Amino acid sequence: MTVPATPDGAVPVAPRVHWIGALDPDLRRFDIILRTANGTSYNAYAVRGSQGVAIIDTVKIDFSEAFFGRLESIADYDEITTVVLNHLEPDHSGALPELLRRARRATLLVSPQARLMLNGLFDPADLAGRVAFVGSGDRADLGDRQLQFLNTPYLHWPDTQCTWLAAEGILFSADFLGCHYCDSRLFNDAVGDFRFSFDYYYRHIMRPFGSYVRDALDLIEALPLRVVAPAHGPILRRDPLEYVARYRALAARTVYGAATKTLAVFYVSAYGATRRMAEAVVAGAESASTAAGEVRISLHDLEGGEAAAFVDLIEEADALVFGSPTINGDAVKPVWDLLSSLTVVDLKGKLGAAFGSYGWSGEAVPMIEERLRRLKLRVPLPGVRARLAPTGNDFAACHDLGREISLQLLGRPTPRTFDLAQIS
Ligand code: FEO
Repeated sequence: MTVPATPDGAVPVAPRVHWIGALDPDLRRFDIILRTANGTSYNAYAVRGSQGVAIIDTVKIDFSEAFFGRLESIADYDEITTVVLNHLEPDHSGALPELLRRARRATLLVSPQARLMLNGLFDPADLAGRVAFVGSGDRADLGDRQLQFLNTPYLHWPDTQCTWLAAEGILFSADFLGCHYCDSRLFNDAVGDFRFSFDYYYRHIMRPFGSYVRDALDLIEALPLRVVAPAHGPILRRDPLEYVARYRALAARTVYGAATKTLAVFYVSAYGATRRMAEAVVAGAESASTAAGEVRISLHDLEGGEAAAFVDLIEEADALVFGSPTINGDAVKPVWDLLSSLTVVDLKGKLGAAFGSYGWSGEAVPMIEERLRRLKLRVPLPGVRARLAPTGNDFAACHDLGREISLQLLGRPTPRTFDLAQIS
């Protein structure tokens, strides 16, 4: 099969709507961490109205020449009244300063959350008097058609918005519903099979923002969509609602549902001490569970070194407890491997705790607690550390830790007593 060469000019998407982006087929890694086996595209669009032209997004700066060439094939710079940046990440804003220099009449429209970033990314002199901040319901008038804005933050930058062209049923969706898949045929009904790239992109870019994804879907599902025009990958003109539905499924809590609370306990044990502490945590959690309601509890030995296999489970869990011995002043590698895999997961507000045995200094527990806090978990209970072989008191403390975690999940935490003499 021969894939057609990159189109030289602008590509029609709908009447008076053109793709003017750029293709980057050789890219193999994006933002350092993301593999891009199929390269990517930087999609930008031009929308013509009776009283002006709007440009929606630009391209990575290295691809400016292709972008301006396509733009010039369908519009004069003096016709451009509006430039919309659906978010400011440099792969879409790279050509923005030059565009604003060439299109002297244009006003830049961005979301309110972009305010702080603009001065960090651009010379304020380039933007002086030329920026307006738009939110949900605001419109940009192009004469016989308007652009409307949907505030959809954290998809995946704080300033992300989507732009809606009601006249054609086109949603310009920024990174949302996009993927790194470069194919010069541009449209989803013409390119190769990109399902893997679509799901991969969701799991690595959107997944940590699940609640924001669901909020955005509430807005988007209400629209009479005919085309989704994302900032990367194929333009979705055939069955766009299927892709919206796929996001809804990917962002759903599917196993237990929000009404069932879940606790996952992970541990590594060198000589069995931390394992027995883990079992005491689980026993404590179960004791509260039967008395006050149900918490689904699972116990996992990380000695096998698996990390990826647990990510789905952790995303669903309401509380996470980690047990590690301290070896050479550190928690052990399988624990760190798992904790470093969690940047793709929405962890905000989950409960976290730590425990473990140690020989000399016992740094593992506070180090894990610190990591959990930085991942935005709540760590309301002090961890349990046991020197060498845990004593009866140590096991009791583990039991209490598990029990209190369960009670907190069930909304029945034990009232705390503060010693006022200790409060200065
Ligand atoms: Fe494709 Fe968030 O930039």
